[in-house]
Amino acid sequence: MVEDVSDFLHNPEWRRQQRWRKAIWTTMSRLGLTGVHALPLNRRWVEIHRRKMPIRGLDPALVGKKIVQISDLHFSPVVWKTYLEQFLDWVNELEPDLVTVTGDLITGGYRYARNVATLLTRLKAPHGVICTFGNHDYSIHGKRPVEAKRRGDYLEKMLEDQGLNVLRNERAELKPEGAIQGLTIVGLDDEWSGNIDPHRGFDGVTPGQPVLCLNHNPANCMDLMEFPWQWMLSGHTHGRQVATSKMGRTLYPHRHRTFTHGYYSVNGRHLYVNRGLSYGQRVLDWCRPEITLFKLERDESGVVSVGAKA
Ligand SMILES: [Fe+2]
Repeated sequence: MVEDVSDFLHNPEWRRQQRWRKAIWTTMSRLGLTGVHALPLNRRWVEIHRRKMPIRGLDPALVGKKIVQISDLHFSPVVWKTYLEQFLDWVNELEPDLVTVTGDLITGGYRYARNVATLLTRLKAPHGVICTFGNHDYSIHGKRPVEAKRRGDYLEKMLEDQGLNVLRNERAELKPEGAIQGLTIVGLDDEWSGNIDPHRGFDGVTPGQPVLCLNHNPANCMDLMEFPWQWMLSGHTHGRQVATSKMGRTLYPHRHRTFTHGYYSVNGRHLYVNRGLSYGQRVLDWCRPEITLFKLERDESGVVSVGAKA
């Protein structure tokens, strides 16, 4: 047993340590301690989800391509660089073709905007890294348009200066060599600060075009049904299962609480809510930080409903 514990403390190979980490996690959560995965004993313990991403009308050249989603890094004085770096290295181990970062990159000021841009250059993917913004990326000044714009623009500039692609109600295309039609990626801006503009983001997109939408907060998923996306990748919730409890509903009334974590089929569309990498708000059991790997495939079912208002 002593050898097991020693191995647990010193061996960075997280796959071999499931038993110990699970025991510690369960004990700590029973004691009401949140964010325990950030403690030295657990900080390497990320959950890697692997999912297929069936898309109607996908070009054959895109079949098998890998898209990794990470979210809610919240780089800040309490979420450290070394804590996040290890996850980015594991993202690279998955050999993604494209990496998406779905908002809340920072919780902090201009210094963290600069630092997160440097941090994300650690990611390696042949088709690059696409970032969208969440509420925290506009800081606590999100409701003050002038200051929010200044901070959002600064973060965008820092990221783009480092070669990262920032989509704020804009679109990009994943189009590998040999593809006739690429996968359109629409990145929506943050809703809370009032910067979201789906009409601008989807401008020029036709109903037959395969579209992956990046949208930080999944709460507005139903409001976006008139737009022709097949998949939506979100974050924001940190796996907030507690919000669906009776007490959570009383304390924090909010719409669409059902979209807290994982996969949802919504009116024939596909929604995935990533729990994020940061700690905080992980109150219940079994809510570890998450990296999600999607593998593209052709959807031959023909049942996806796209572009019709729900
Ligand atoms: Fe967040």
